[in-house]
Amino acid sequence: MLRVLELFSGIGGMHCALDFLDLNYEIVAAIDINPTANVVYSSNFPNVPIINRSIETISLKQWEKWNADLWTMSPPCQPFTRQGKQEDLNDRRTDGFVYLMKTILSQLKSKPKYILLENVSGFEHSQAHQLLLETLQSNNYSYEQYLLSPIQFGIPNSRLRYYLIAKQQDNSIDTYSPIIHTRISNFEKLLTKLHEQFPLKTSLSSEENLIQNRNDQITDQCSHSSEILIDSNQSMFINDFLVSNENSEFELDEKQLKRGLNVCDIITCYAKRSFCFTKSYAKYFEGTGSLFSTLTDHIRYFTPKEIANLHCFPLNYNFPQQITNRQAYSLLGNSLNVFVISILLENLFERF
Ligand SMILES: C[S@@+](CC[C@H](N)C(=O)[O-])C[C@H]1O[C@@H](n2cnc3c(N)ncnc32)[C@H](O)[C@@H]1O
Repeated sequence: MLRVLELFSGIGGMHCALDFLDLNYEIVAAIDINPTANVVYSSNFPNVPIINRSIETISLKQWEKWNADLWTMSPPCQPFTRQGKQEDLNDRRTDGFVYLMKTILSQLKSKPKYILLENVSGFEHSQAHQLLLETLQSNNYSYEQYLLSPIQFGIPNSRLRYYLIAKQQDNSIDTYSPIIHTRISNFEKLLTKLHEQFPLKTSLSSEENLIQNRNDQITDQCSHSSEILIDSNQSMFINDFLVSNENSEFELDEKQLKRGLNVCDIITCYAKRSFCFTKSYAKYFEGTGSLFSTLTDHIRYFTPKEIANLHCFPLNYNFPQQITNRQAYSLLGNSLNVFVISILLENLFERF
């Protein structure tokens, strides 16, 4: 059985991706300092030991005991985001990652055979990225790097992210490819499985087709750096991810409408795209994610469950009652697309 350490585990996006693959695995520990994320994690995965501690406070001895085969990690992205100060390694929020690279991975006797890392696009230009590659090279890992977005696989959401998959080799490696791939193969089987989870239920009348054509033009503009990797008839509609079209609880009030309509991207159920949902969704308007226009022309927010669907979380994934919508948006904004992670894992285990 594959022993997995889920580092910076949040609400368990990596765990969901492992489940999607039907692997024989065990999460030996999920580690995160955010108690709210940990409540959501344990509500969905009650049997996983959750460690509510900073990674940098956990001793080498404990890592030896875990003896993990796979590390998954999404270190905090704020030190690298365009909106942030980009303090990179000087930002205290990278301390956990630096500790993992300099102290743990370098000194550990029972090193993981596999590593998967996710971060914002832009990470690839950071000193932290340099530290990652140097540490992997000096510990004999081969690796591949990617910049991918769910929209490339027909999932109507943009979320361009940097990914690295690494595997420890028995023999020393001569050369390391600096290429960051913007496409990936070996995903068709998983795409069929995704379509079973979110069936393509939308067929369009000619009037709706017109609307969709307009939306598609916008898709082309939005996905500038992401090459679409599927046939157009396989791409999914926003409708396929909705819980219901109308939802008065999530409609904008008049004051919000006045502000939101001018600065927000608004899409219908026939759209094949949406903007990246950030942790500030429903708190600020600009650049935090798309709004939804219902069939009766009401403007509403996407619900947390719908964003979880767009992130391809399993249908039975839940947010416990004590979690507010604002908390759920914030956690989802920090999380990841489960389907893209599962493709990377498939490639890591099967091919690489
Ligand atoms: C980008 S989010 C990861 C999200 C996660 N992949 C998910 O699916 O929800 C980064 C997470 O790292 C946690 N974190 C930040 N610094 C940490 C540290 N030093 N030790 C442990 N967890 C940390 C944050 O609380 C946050 O939940």
